[in-house]
Amino acid sequence: MSHPRAPRPPDGAGEILDERWVPTVPLADVPDEGATHVEVAGVPVCLARSGGVVYAILDECSHGRVRLSEGEVADGAVECWLHGSTFDLGTGAPKCPPATASVPVYPVRVVADVVEVAVPPPAGGGGAPSGARPSPSP
Ligand code: FES
Repeated sequence: MSHPRAPRPPDGAGEILDERWVPTVPLADVPDEGATHVEVAGVPVCLARSGGVVYAILDECSHGRVRLSEGEVADGAVECWLHGSTFDLGTGAPKCPPATASVPVYPVRVVADVVEVAVPPPAGGGGAPSGARPSPSP
């Protein structure tokens, strides 16, 4: 049985060299079209699910220091509850102002109905594109 993995960028660009998959929460704890907050190796992460795809994105808006996991999730994006910027869950890019900077995204996968996230070491740059479609439940 295979498990979904986040897609790899071409030519190894942005590849995580010291990949560390960390189990977080059961898939059932990430509601569809919703989000939940977890800590992964000391990094605040917003786990979100939209359209059946699970994403991992830094749980901090790039415009202010508020949790994105407390915002609304829809159509592959999360909306910051404070000023209304939305961020693409797959790339972390802002889709509307006032935020102008992207939010880091992290590789995510689902193994045995547990969501695992790989956060790069602190010196590493951003993450690979996020998003994993969970295996259908038996
Ligand atoms: S704090 Fe998120 S848009 Fe302003």
